[in-house]
This record gives sequence, C-alpha cells and structure tokens, in this order.
Amino acid sequence: MKSLRLRNCKIFYRGSVISDVEILIEDGKIARLTKLKINRPVDEIIDLNGLLVIPGLIDVHVHLRGLNLAYKEDYDTGTLAAAFGGFSTVLDMPNTDPATENVETFKLKVEAAKPKIYVNVGFYSFIPEKLTEIHRLIAEGVFGFKVFMHRVMPGYKFNDLEDLRKPFETIGETGLPVLVHAEKRETYETVKQENPNGSLEAFEAALSESSENESVNGLIAMLRKIKPVKLHFCHISSQLPLRRIAEAKAEGLSITCEVTPHHLLLSKRSYETLGIYGLVDPPLRSEACVEGLWAGIRRSMVDCIASDHAPHTFEEKSTGNVWNIKTGFPGLETLLPLMLDCVNRGWLSLSKLVKLTSQNPARIFRIAGRGSIEIGYWADLTVVDLNGEFTIDPSKFKSKAMHSPFKGWRGRGVVKGIFVNGAPVVLDGELSGRSGIGRILKPGV
Ligand code: DOR
Ligand code: ZN
Ligand code: ZN
Repeated sequence: MKSLRLRNCKIFYRGSVISDVEILIEDGKIARLTKLKINRPVDEIIDLNGLLVIPGLIDVHVHLRGLNLAYKEDYDTGTLAAAFGGFSTVLDMPNTDPATENVETFKLKVEAAKPKIYVNVGFYSFIPEKLTEIHRLIAEGVFGFKVFMHRVMPGYKFNDLEDLRKPFETIGETGLPVLVHAEKRETYETVKQENPNGSLEAFEAALSESSENESVNGLIAMLRKIKPVKLHFCHISSQLPLRRIAEAKAEGLSITCEVTPHHLLLSKRSYETLGIYGLVDPPLRSEACVEGLWAGIRRSMVDCIASDHAPHTFEEKSTGNVWNIKTGFPGLETLLPLMLDCVNRGWLSLSKLVKLTSQNPARIFRIAGRGSIEIGYWADLTVVDLNGEFTIDPSKFKSKAMHSPFKGWRGRGVVKGIFVNGAPVVLDGELSGRSGIGRILKPGV
C-alpha cells in the first residue's frame, strides 16, 4: 500500500478552516485527518507549510478539444491547465471533431485521453441520433447529454421543444442530466440573416438576454408537462432566467445552473478594451446582469461556478466577422485565482466557493467519493495561498490558448499545488506528476 503524509496543513473541513492538521493518504484515498502527529512510517512526507487545503475543484464545463482539434488544445495541455488551475476533475463537452455523439466517438475520446491526462476526466455526449444509443453511452460512462438550443449540432436533430420530449424523457428515466446552452434558434437565425456582415450589436441581438430568458422559460414550461428529467443550465448570463430557474426549483422541478467567471467579472463595457476578441456565447452583459448574477450567488440561486474553458487560437478569435469568429476564452487557469480574490474582497465566502466549485458539482454530476475532504474519499486536494499575490500572465499558461480577457489582472489568491487520486501533480507551483495520473471517470450511483 502506498502511503503519503501531508503535514502542517490548514484544511477546509465541513464548512470551517482547521489549522495544524496532518492528512494521511493511503492508496490514493484520505485515510486519516488528525491534529496529532502521524507517527507510523510512510512512503513520503510533504510539508505544506501552513497553506490551505481545499477539496480538489471540479469543473463541470470544459472544452478539452483533442483529436482533430488538438491544435487548439489537447488532453495533456488541457488537463495540465486544469491541474495548475487547481482542478482535479473536469467534465468535457461533446462539440469536438469528431463530435461525441455515439458509442464509437465516445470510445475514441476515452482512448485518446487516457494516457495523456494529468487530472480526472469525464465526458458528455450529444443526444445520439438513434435514441437507443443513450443506454449504450450510459454503459460506457457518459456524464450527461448536451443540447445547444440555438444551433444545429451533431447528433439528434430537433426543430422545436416537442421534438425534445422523447429524448428528454428517455434520459430522465436514467437519472443522468441534460445540459443546455439556452438561447433561441429563431432569434439567432433571423438576426444573422438580416445582418450578413455582422457587428457587435448584431451579435448581441442574436444572442440577447431575452433570447436566453425565453429559451429558459420554454424549457421550464416543457419540464412541467413531461416525465421528470434533470436539467442543468450552462453559463446563465442574465438575471431574469436565474430568477425563473430559482422559482422552478422551488416548484420541485429538478433544475440546476452554473455561472462563469467571465460573466461575473466582465461586462459589455469590456468590449471597449477587448474588441472582437471579447466575443463569447452567451455574450458579456450589462452591469445590471452582472449584479444580478452576484445576487444569485448570495441568495444560493446558483449551483456551480464553471469555467466554460473554450480554447481557440488567438488568430481564430481575432479574424473574420462576428458570425464565423471563434467565441469563448480559456478559463481553467484563471477561475480559482480570480474567485479567491473575490473571497478576499468579501464578495463570497470560502465556504460558498467550495460549495460551488466542488461539493455541488460532485453531487449534481454524481462524482462519487470526490468534492469534499472526508475520510474514505479520494485525496483530490487543492493547495492555495489565500494571501499570495498574482498577476494573470497568459504567456505562462499550460493551455495552448495563451491569451485571456483577464490578462494583467492582479489580485490575491494563488494555486500552489494539487493532489489527484493521492498523487502530487503540482507542488509549490511546479509540475511534479506525470501524464496518466488522471483517471477516466464514470458517474457513481
Ligand atoms: O463561446 C462559446 N464557446 N460558447 C459556446 O457555446 C461554445 C464554446 C466553444 O466550444 O468554443
Ligand atoms: Zn455553451
Ligand atoms: Zn461551453
């Protein structure tokens, strides 16, 4: 049995911070948490010098790319970015090349990723064209099924909500979630047709707040009429849909949602400095929306903070018109420092941050034995220096996408290390693990 003793830790344990703790890790799992000195012989001892240990973060919305999109990001660079950003588990989106839309393409990804990954990875799929494949994908370990409401994507084709009833009900019976990017296809297509050359205004109109709101409302109305299914709303960017989601939850519908750091910390005013590089779907919103999202966090209307890590080359993000330019930002290496800075500023508590980035993700996506520091749980641990100062420097990113809308931002809260399945992958800000330490995860029961 391999054993590791972590001494001189401060740990986040069941809602409070406890100093002078020792952690014993055996075969990758937390075997003991104690205020006493661990005397038994161990294979390795690591002194954490009083730094804070929180549960390894889980990012439920990441585009790792790989395969034919490996020029943007691959499984090694994406999971290294995750490790250095403090994430021990990431869940990968299916809009890749080839797209994840059936068992064959799912297996292709698993095999390509397995030897390359530094953190744990789980995969989502599109709803397969043949609904009978849903059960086969579940047997392979899929974490959920993604639907882009506003774009025609690979996999199951639909024109309206009625077309989604059957697949939703089938997925609902399995207990897995459907993840939705909620925006209206009619709005997107109409605005695009009317403005073929595009403009920032047209982009915002095509993906407007009301488009998000109507899409969310439509889906909620549908949920009331069909057999139960778990719905997870990705990157909610404005206040009204957040309120509707909270009301629907109170009614008893099985709904969760996430917000991203870029929608919490940037607004449409950021376009003045970022230009078209700042385009992301959903777009950056008004300051009222930003305030609405923070209010949602304070009132526990938000379930997860996720990065929507969307790596593209800088070239792809700065050339073309708004209809063909690539949208989104790499986010794995900026989420935790930025959010720790918000903790330092008193905008959210450490306890809420842990809930939104590890406990809730583990619960909602059934990631068993992870998401908390508990005896018997996997030793997925993130080590942070809450007082350490950072300046966001994309030239140091592990991601292939070495750019960020947060470039030059300064604050307090630095990721110092990460343990994945009990192995140190990053220690004192330096790489210490090897690829293949991460595991391909399947949802637990
Ligand atoms: O901005 C975005 N980028 N929004 C999406 O929905 C997809 C993502 C990507 O994959 O690049
Ligand atoms: Zn999306
Ligand atoms: Zn996304």
